[in-house]
Amino acid sequence: MSQYKDTVLVSGGAGYIGTHTAVALVEAGYDVVVIDNFSNSEPSAVEGLEKIIGRKVAFEEVDTCDLEALRGVFERHEFSTVIHFAAYKAVGESMTEPLKYYQNNLVSYMNILQLMKEFKRPNVLFSSSATVYGDAEVLPVTEETPRQPATSPYGNTKQIAEDILRDCCRAYEGFFGIALRYFNPIGAHPSALIGELPRGVPNNLIPFVTQTAAGVRECLSVFGNDYDTPDGTCLRDYIDVLDLAKAHVAAVDRMVDHKMKEKYEIFNVGTGTPVSVLELITRFMKATGVDLPYKIVGRRAGDVPAVWADTALANKELGWKAERDLDDTLRASWNWEKRVRGIK
Ligand code: WQD
Repeated sequence: MSQYKDTVLVSGGAGYIGTHTAVALVEAGYDVVVIDNFSNSEPSAVEGLEKIIGRKVAFEEVDTCDLEALRGVFERHEFSTVIHFAAYKAVGESMTEPLKYYQNNLVSYMNILQLMKEFKRPNVLFSSSATVYGDAEVLPVTEETPRQPATSPYGNTKQIAEDILRDCCRAYEGFFGIALRYFNPIGAHPSALIGELPRGVPNNLIPFVTQTAAGVRECLSVFGNDYDTPDGTCLRDYIDVLDLAKAHVAAVDRMVDHKMKEKYEIFNVGTGTPVSVLELITRFMKATGVDLPYKIVGRRAGDVPAVWADTALANKELGWKAERDLDDTLRASWNWEKRVRGIK
């Protein structure tokens, strides 16, 4: 009898959400096998995760697009569940390099599904995104809110992957899937040993905020203040990465404990509270005491004015709820940035 509840394969487990989820899984009594090709992450992330949990993890440097290399992982390790994080995620880059996105995000995913089927491993948890809702007519969005046609190849890979999982669950016996639609993940582990490590100029708001606070960037640009929202800036649902990680544990529990009501299920993972860009900037400055130079510029192409989650389904079915306080989350992001930059 193993000392662990079960084993979970975490693809992209050296990444931002992957590392935090691996920690949460271990804390919940699971063992993990972590794979990553370091295409957008660093070996130091695995070291950080090991420091937090106080032991080594089974780690393999593998490209999930390499079917034979991935087959080796399945041959060497027993696990019931895969959480598939490994993917490219830059929306803008996907517009200029669509093939890179379709190739990487879909081939790696198909390889995982193919091997899950071949090795009779039952449970697939897929990293989806609120991006599938596009510019929704009714807010907050529920899992029933119709998806809008994707506005980027990145977003399209998320929609296609959801559909592939649905079809596999429908067709194959003993095959179960959950798609978690993440809203805007932010924050970092309170130890500051793991966090988000974007390469180059960040696309997302919080890394840009913390880099500006650290003096790496001169000034934060706020993309548009003429939206039809209370202060004119966009509204998003910022979810702490620790809460997000716990949602994965709840979803894995649901699969492993055979509690699923359908063979394929979808859950929104957000806080349910919309926050504007200007509010977030103000909260960051108050929570950290750091001054943040910012200016209003024009809208960014492709941004929707507002999106936030109805979390009732996840609350009820997963028994999960976002709990972290936004100020603590922002301080954690800042502490992580300070550690990365060597700021006291
Ligand atoms: C949030 C808000 C910007 C940067 C994207 C993807 C989504 C998911 C998360 C990830 C918007 C504004 C931003 C800046 C700004 N994917 N902003 N100045 O666009 O909601 O979601 O990232 O892997 O699929 O679409 O997140 O953090 O880029 O932007 O004013 O320098 O901050 O306009 O309103 P977004 P974001």
